[in-house]
Amino acid sequence: MNILVTGAGGQLGKAIRNISDLSGHTCIFTDIHPEADVLALDITDADAVGRMLDLQEIDVVVNCAAYTDVEKAEAALQVACEINAEAAGIMACQAAERNISLIHVSTDYVFDGQSNTPYKEDDAPNPLSVYGQTKLEGEKLIEASGCRYLILRTAWLYSCGARNFFNTIVEKTAALSEMKVVFDQVGTPTYAPDLAHAIFHVIDRWNDGQSGVYHYTGLGVCSWYDFAVAIRDAVGHLCNIRPCLSSEFPTKALRPHYSVLDKARIMRDFDLDIPHWTESLRMCVLDYESVR
Ligand SMILES: NC(=O)c1ccc[n+]([C@@H]2O[C@H](COP(=O)([O-])OP(=O)(O)OC[C@H]3O[C@@H](n4cnc5c(N)ncnc54)[C@H](OP(=O)(O)O)[C@@H]3O)[C@@H](O)[C@H]2O)c1
Repeated sequence: MNILVTGAGGQLGKAIRNISDLSGHTCIFTDIHPEADVLALDITDADAVGRMLDLQEIDVVVNCAAYTDVEKAEAALQVACEINAEAAGIMACQAAERNISLIHVSTDYVFDGQSNTPYKEDDAPNPLSVYGQTKLEGEKLIEASGCRYLILRTAWLYSCGARNFFNTIVEKTAALSEMKVVFDQVGTPTYAPDLAHAIFHVIDRWNDGQSGVYHYTGLGVCSWYDFAVAIRDAVGHLCNIRPCLSSEFPTKALRPHYSVLDKARIMRDFDLDIPHWTESLRMCVLDYESVR
């Protein structure tokens, strides 16, 4: 199949690029910032998206493009809305017109974190932030478009080569003797290469007419504090990490205190195995050590 990947310059897009040769599909990579092997495509430019879909005879779109700066989004509602909601909706309508299928990546931040059991796909969303609101709006526009779609909600994405929590903790625990990390936000880290594999896995097992929302993160549960300690120990640093409350680090955007996602649906419908987050962290550290 011909698969168009948008936002391919970002963290998830890069993870998909790294394994696409093994997928047996022809992948066309695009991003707002072109680079070697990545074509220029701004997903808010509806005409350009339509031309790309036709020119490349696309069968499946994997939309990894998004406005992902959760803090800046609080003061950038319009641009976040254009990218996370309107562009997703337009792409879905264009996919529907051409019988193209869409995989769209969404977020745990559509939930308010008031639950204390893992969120199922049908649980009521109630985003706390502009980022979460605009991602939820994108989901709704896709659902209304009539295209064949899978919305994959994920959380706490990390990998070795990108700007993310993993690299921040590696750098800070190397430089500092002591630091604080919040323990009152609980969720599950997702290793971007695991999600990239899962995306090709579901494309290959996607039944005709099947559309819906699915949750995908690593297995297990931890707080950011637990995750930071595990990263520090895995890379062998000695920094003393102390647990603290989110209120000690006020942010513009509110984050859910609990955002564990229930993965039973994707595991059942697509016969998908998901690694525990600690196992995936081990893989990430091996990757980190191999490029050091
Ligand atoms: N990161 C997480 O922890 C997390 C958690 C839950 C869900 N998600 C979701 O997972 C998906 C992938 O996230 P990620 O971490 O890979 O994000 P990312 O690293 O920010 O990558 C997104 C890419 O899309 C590009 N982009 C922005 N606007 C665009 C436009 N108009 N047209 C085309 N490309 C555009 C970005 O360019 P710029 O860098 O210039 O903006 C970036 O290269 C997103 O849908 C995100 O909402 C992420």
